[in-house]
Amino acid sequence: MTQSPGQGQALDNLLTESRTFPPSAEFAAQANARPELYEEAKADREAFWAKQAERLHWETKWDQVLDWSNAPFAKWFVGGKLNVAYNCVDRHVESGHGDQVAIHWEGEPGDSRAITYAELQREVSKAANALASLGIGAEDRVAIYMPMIPEAIFAMLACARVGALHNVVFGGFSAEALRTRIQDSACRLVITTDGQYRRGTPAPLKPAVDEAVAGAPSVEKVLVVKRTDTEVAWTDKDVWWHELVDSQPDQHTPEAFDSEHPLFILYTSGTTGKPKGILHTSGGYLTQTSYTHHNVFDLKPDTDVYWCTADIGWVTGHSYIVYGPLSNRVTQVVYEGTPNTPHEGRHWEIVQKYGVSIYYTAPTLIRTFMKWGADIPAKYDLSSLRVLGSVGEPINPEAWIWYRENVGGGKAPIVDTWWQTETGAIMISPLPGVVSTKPGSAQRPLPGIGAKVVNDEGVEVEHGGGGYLVLDEPWPSMLRGIWGDEERYRDTYWSRFGEQGFYFAGDGAKYDDDGDIWLLGRVDDVMNVSGHRISTTEVESALVSHPTVAEAAVVGASDATTGQGIVAFVILRGGAGDDAGGAEAIKALRDHVAKEIGPIAKPRQIMVVPELPKTRSGKIMRRLLRDVAENRAVGDVTTLADSSVMDLISAGLQSDKSED
Ligand code: PRX
Repeated sequence: MTQSPGQGQALDNLLTESRTFPPSAEFAAQANARPELYEEAKADREAFWAKQAERLHWETKWDQVLDWSNAPFAKWFVGGKLNVAYNCVDRHVESGHGDQVAIHWEGEPGDSRAITYAELQREVSKAANALASLGIGAEDRVAIYMPMIPEAIFAMLACARVGALHNVVFGGFSAEALRTRIQDSACRLVITTDGQYRRGTPAPLKPAVDEAVAGAPSVEKVLVVKRTDTEVAWTDKDVWWHELVDSQPDQHTPEAFDSEHPLFILYTSGTTGKPKGILHTSGGYLTQTSYTHHNVFDLKPDTDVYWCTADIGWVTGHSYIVYGPLSNRVTQVVYEGTPNTPHEGRHWEIVQKYGVSIYYTAPTLIRTFMKWGADIPAKYDLSSLRVLGSVGEPINPEAWIWYRENVGGGKAPIVDTWWQTETGAIMISPLPGVVSTKPGSAQRPLPGIGAKVVNDEGVEVEHGGGGYLVLDEPWPSMLRGIWGDEERYRDTYWSRFGEQGFYFAGDGAKYDDDGDIWLLGRVDDVMNVSGHRISTTEVESALVSHPTVAEAAVVGASDATTGQGIVAFVILRGGAGDDAGGAEAIKALRDHVAKEIGPIAKPRQIMVVPELPKTRSGKIMRRLLRDVAENRAVGDVTTLADSSVMDLISAGLQSDKSED
C-alpha cells in the first residue's frame, strides 16, 4: 500500500495480530540454520561472509572480503575469481551427482522433461559454444525474452558461463517495453521463442521481438527456440536455436571471471517513467543467493524437491530458480503455465506428482487460491510439503494462516521473505527452525544483514514505532548501480539518508513490541500489483501518449487479490469520450497501456474526470485520488489550489471497471 507509515488500514490490521508459531523440536533439530548464526555474524560480519563465500568454488581466492572505500559502489571478495555457471552446474557433476535431476520441467499443455545435472552441463555448454560462435563474450549484453521453458535457464547460464550479461525481459511485457530495455543496455543478441502457451493456447511471441528489434539497431542476431510451432516471419538476423545450438559440441571450458564481473542487468520500475537497469555482479551475488537459499528454505539437496513459482522475468526467478538453488545442487520443479490451466488444482497436482517439499510463492497467488476454495488443495496429497515461502508484498495474516492450514498441513513453517530486485537476495526473513514465526511479519534481518526502521531524521524508532526501512550495512548481493546512470543510483537509494550513509529501500515499516519488522508497503510512487512493481509515472506517460488524453494521474488502490490495483484518472481532450459513457474511449486507453507496457500494467479502473486535484505549485495530490479510488471520504483538501475540484470529480465520474 502506498501510504504514510504510521497511519491507515494496514497498520491497524497488523496491530491486532499477535499469534506466534514456534518451530517444532523435530524441525529445529534437523534445520540447516542454527541460532549461533546470528552470534557469529554479529561477532565479525566480514569473517561471517567470508565463511559463506566458501560455499562456492573459487578458481582464485579473494584477498579482501569487502572494499567499501568507493561507497555506494561496493566490491566484495576482491581479487577472487570464479565462474558462476560452473558453480551452478559442473561442480555438481564433478562431485558425482550427474544423474541427479536438476529440473523437473512441467509444460503447460502437459508435456514434461526431467533434466539431470549431466544433461544441464551439456545443454549449457552447447549454448555457451553457440554464443561464442555468434561472437558473444565477456561484457556483451544479451536480452532474453522467453516463457518458462528449460532453454531460458540454459540461456541465462550460458551467458554467465561466457561472461556476458543477461537482460531478461518478462515475456508479458510489450514490444515497446522490450525495445526500451534492449536499447538502454545496447544488447547485441536477443534470445526468444516462436510463441508461448497462455492459458492453454499458443500465443505468438516473436512478432513483439521483430517490432522491438526494428527500433533497436544494437541487435545483430535473434536466436529463436521453437516452442509452440507457430508460424513466424523470418529476417536475416534470425537463427533457430535447434539449428545453431544443437549442432554445437557439448563440452565447453568455463573461464573464471573476477568476483566483480557483471552478471546481469534486470530492469525494474522506479518513480519516474524510465525503468532502471539494476546491475548485479558475480561473487557476492552468488554467495548471498546460495547462503539464503540454504538457510531460509532449509534445502537438503539429497531429499528435497523445491519449487519457486516465480517467472525468470523477475528477480525472484533469477535468484531463487536459477542461481541460489542450482548453486546448492537443488532438485526443483519449473512450471511453464498459469495456476488454473487446465484446472484450479494444477499446482497441487504438481506438488503431489513430484513430492514437492519446499514451495515459494507470492501472497497474491495465495489470496487467489483462497478465493478458489480450500476444497481444491484438500483433494491432493500435500503431505510432502515441509517449508513454505512468501515474497513480493506484505502477506496479510488471513492469507498467512490459510496458507499454513490448507497448504502446509498446519505445521510447515512459513518464511515471509523481504527483499528487492536491488538487494539481489533475501534480506529480512525468519530462519525456519530458529525463529518463532508471526503471521504477517518478515521479522528480522538475516544474520550478516543490517536493516532498521528509522524516522524522518534517520534515527531508529522505538519498538512499537513506524517509519522507513533502511539497510545500514553493505551486503554481498547488493546492486552495483543502475546501468549507465550513476547519478540516478546515488539519488534514488543513497540521498534520502545520505548523511547517515543508509540505503533507503522505499518501503515503510514498523517494529512491534518485540522489535520484529512489519513491512507496510511502498512510500513512493511505485505500485505493487500482484507482487510486481509498476510506477505510477510509467502508466501516466503511457496514458498521455494516447491522442485522446490531455492529462492523467495514476494511483495504486488496495485490492483484495492483487494487493494493489491500478486506478487512473484521465482528462480527455475535447470530444473524446462522448460515446456511450465513454466506454469505448476507456477501452482504447486500457489497450493502449497494454501495448506500451504490457497487460500487467492495464489499469483496473479508468475514471474520466473534468479536473485533477493539484496544489498551488501544480503537484497532483494523489492522496485525494486514492481516497476516491478506495471509496473513502475524501480527506483534507485545504492545500488544493481549487478546493471545489474534488466535488467536480466525484460528481462527474464516468468509470469502467473491467477485470481482464
Ligand atoms: O515493497 C517491497 C515489496 O516488493 C518490493 C520489491 O519489489 P521487486 O524489486 O519487484 O522484488 C520483488 C521480489 C523480491 C519491496 O520494496 N516486497 C517484497 N517482498 C516483500 C515485500 N513487501 C513486504 N513483504 C515482503 N516479504
